[in-house]
Parts: sequence; C-alpha cells; structure tokens
Amino acid sequence: MITGKYPSLRLRRNRKHLWTRKLIQENTLSSSDFILPIFLIEGSNKKESIISMPGVYRYTINKISQIVDRAIKAGIPMVALFPKTKKNLKNEIGSESLNENNLVCKAIIEIKKRYKNEIGIMCDVALDPYTSHGHDGLIKSNQILNDETIDVLINQSLLQAEMGCDVLAPSDMMDGRIGKIRKALDKANYQNTQILSYAAKYASSFYGPFRDAVGSKGFLKGNKKTYQMDFRNSDEALREVALDIKEGADMVMVKPGMPYLDIIRSIKEKFKIPVFAYQVSGEYSLISNAIRKKLISNEAIYESLVAFKRAGANAIVSYYADRLDKILNK
Ligand code: PBG
Repeated sequence: MITGKYPSLRLRRNRKHLWTRKLIQENTLSSSDFILPIFLIEGSNKKESIISMPGVYRYTINKISQIVDRAIKAGIPMVALFPKTKKNLKNEIGSESLNENNLVCKAIIEIKKRYKNEIGIMCDVALDPYTSHGHDGLIKSNQILNDETIDVLINQSLLQAEMGCDVLAPSDMMDGRIGKIRKALDKANYQNTQILSYAAKYASSFYGPFRDAVGSKGFLKGNKKTYQMDFRNSDEALREVALDIKEGADMVMVKPGMPYLDIIRSIKEKFKIPVFAYQVSGEYSLISNAIRKKLISNEAIYESLVAFKRAGANAIVSYYADRLDKILNK
C-alpha cells in the first residue's frame, strides 16, 4: 500500500547511508536461525572431505567434537546427524537403521555425554542411508510400501529417542507416519521428544551431492517420485502440512529451500506453525562452486539465507552454518 507520491516521496532517501539502511531492515540473520547438518563416517581420527560439497566434511565419532564445538561457539541451537553407512551394512530392508550401535546412535550418545543440553540433536527418520536400493522405505514388486515402512520408522524413532535424540525428523514422506510415530513415542514415555516433519519434501534434483555425501548415490534405483512431491504442486504441500499438524508435528520443513520460497510463505500464512527451510546440498554446491569460479561474490551466501527469513522461515538448515562468523559479518 503506497501512500505518497514522487517527487515528495522518494524511497531512495531511506537507502542513502549504511546506518539508515540498517534501521529500515525488515529481516536479519542471527546464529539462532540455523541448524547445522553433520555427516558421520565409521573409523577413527578421520575428517574426510566431500568432493561434491567443497568445505563440508564427514567426521568419525571421535572427531565429532571438532565440529560440534564450532557449532556451539557459533551459537547454533541444533545439529542434524547424517550417517554414511558402509556398503556391507546396507541391505534390502535397511536393518542397520535399528542397530543401537549404528553411527547415528553412537553420535547421539557422544554428543549428549559431552554437551548435555547445550545443543539440540535432530535425526532423520528414513531408511535411505541404510538400504541397498537407496530408497527411504521397504520395497516389494518395485513399490515402496507405505504401512510396512512406517512400522520400521516407528522402531527407528523409538531407538533414536532412547539414545537421546531431541528432534525426530521423518524425511520419508510415507502417509500417516507422523501420527503413528507420535503415538508410539507417547506410549513409550517420550512425550517430550519433538517431531519436525519434512512435510513438504519435493522429488528434487537438488539432492544429488547429499546422496554422494551419505554414499547412497550409486545405489539409488529409479527415483523417489512415488513418495516425494511433484515440484509442480503447491496446494498439495498445504494438504501435507495440514495432515502432519493434525497428526502431531511440532514443526514442519520445506525442502529444498530456494526453489520453494513460495511454499514457505504460504505454509506460514496459513498455519502459523514453526516452518523450517532446508537449503539442500545442490543449492550449497551451486552457490559454493559459483563463488569458487568467481562468477558470484561471497555475499550471495548471505543473500540466499536471508531469503528464507523474508519468505517466513523460522530457521534454516544450512551447510554454511558452521561458518556464520564470516557470513553474518556482512
Ligand atoms: C533422505 C534425505 C535426503 C536429504 C535429507 N534427507 C535425500 C533424499 O531424500 O534423497 C537431502 C539433503 C540435501 O540434499 O542436502 N531422506
């Protein structure tokens, strides 16, 4: 709603100096806006670079404090754990997801022992790091089974909650899983374990480097279009969110991030629930590689992140989160 008119009204007046631009800023970023993903590998004393994600590493459990210390020092409220499961531990049914000595369980225990509640821990609930076919669920006759998958996801959720995970994040897109997981958690006395639902998760090409990072890339047979959403749709995202809220989700995620800012905005407007955005691996790699090639400046990182706040996101999952000191000082 514009009141006033040129020449008595000149919007450039408010942009004249840095100090006045600061005063009229509508959105800013702070370290409290971030969740830092951490990739885990077996072994000890290793910090391994990920070729498709320059600047991001996989850590062995005994090196994890290196990155968690950094997150805490930066003031980041939560980390998200992702395992690179060894090939010989993957199978058709992803049974390693239920092993209490798997990488994620060991990492939760290590972080909680060392840092108590200084920082939150979020874990994906899905089978893709553990299945030999790279899908998020169980397969029969080339179909991803819904209800049978949920039974496994419930057990994965209970296990992660038992280890001390604070926020369970089902990223599998099976129908009805939030309600069933919530019910199982409550029954087992984990009423306080939060659920962050990847409610609007699109079948996207932007996940490529992540699948490389967790080692599921070469394994994935086909695509995820029968369970993740069609990127042509937005009403459907609202239906997904409505269901997940009814089923007990505390927060919802939109993923990928930048191509879906409209979805973040409409969920926020409609449901007034905490909405998180995931700046996924492909977005990270595109921006990082363009900066490396000097096609765009470093400030593009800040611009890409503040866009999520402008769209209405409460927090952002970003692989840049451990380097906020450099990014936020813009
Ligand atoms: C798996 C999962 C994926 C990501 C997070 N959890 C990939 C997928 O669904 O294939 C992608 C994250 C990223 O690209 O950064 N359920």
